[in-house]
Amino acid sequence: MEKRIVIVGPSSQILGIKIAQELCVESLNTETKKFPDGENYIRINIENATLITGKEVIIVQSTGPSASADQNARLMELFMMIDSVKSMGAEKIIVVAPYLAYARQDKIFRSGESEFAKSIINMINYFGINEFYSVDVHNPVILNEFSCKAINIDSMKLLADYVKTLGAKDIVVVAPDKGAKERSHAFANHFGENIPVEIFEKKRDVKTGEIKMSSNSNLKDKDVVIADDIIATGGTMATAIELSKASGARKVFAVATHALLLQQAKYRIMKAGADEIIGTDSIDNEVCKVSLAKIIADYLK
Ligand code: R5P
Repeated sequence: MEKRIVIVGPSSQILGIKIAQELCVESLNTETKKFPDGENYIRINIENATLITGKEVIIVQSTGPSASADQNARLMELFMMIDSVKSMGAEKIIVVAPYLAYARQDKIFRSGESEFAKSIINMINYFGINEFYSVDVHNPVILNEFSCKAINIDSMKLLADYVKTLGAKDIVVVAPDKGAKERSHAFANHFGENIPVEIFEKKRDVKTGEIKMSSNSNLKDKDVVIADDIIATGGTMATAIELSKASGARKVFAVATHALLLQQAKYRIMKAGADEIIGTDSIDNEVCKVSLAKIIADYLK
């Protein structure tokens, strides 16, 4: 009997089943609800707990917000699934959370704030897992907080391979802020040698969240690929697109590993002049054009 089983969390239904198929192992789904007082409920769809006993259990649950649940609910569901498989006697617990909620709260910008990214990891540590996998974590250094093996998977090659199919010419990769510099250079290398990378200067007001961006780049007749880890409200991406267009860009592709697309993000980005928004299935929505299933499965093999 196969020793491994995949639990497909409610936030990663397509990605979870694809990972199970790549690994050729059985999968189980879940049922969820909210109690009238707002508490989360999740049950792994299993009739007999012995199906889990002694198994290596892979829980796939991205922790990004969506229309059906916010990140707090997704984290609670994750904790409850770990708790549940533990009580059913899982021998090894592997968590795959392609989007790690709260990862952007890794620094204190104003006194009185908390470095909550680390605390989230410590909560996962508390539940006791054996391995953790995420993708393009905002600041991968925070993974050092894990007391088990923790891997940050790089999706840049997959995203670049997708952009190549769109027929972009004279490519320039744009990093919308200094934080995206390294990632953008790595991304550019996937398009070939000597692909230029332009770093835009971004300042965000820590109180209001307002963004100011500047650049001296000349992007005349270039196809610009803007690569970021996250699109949340779309403010960063839309501003970078406007600047690229103002400096002459021909086409602009808005690429992010985790396209959360909150509020009016889609509208803002398209209105700014994007030709296409491209994300991965870390977030299950209409722009997830690149699947992480194979690369994640390869790490798990
Ligand atoms: C910030 O450092 C991140 O890398 C993203 O640029 C940011 O989180 C995007 O947020 P928004 O879409 O709200 O501008």
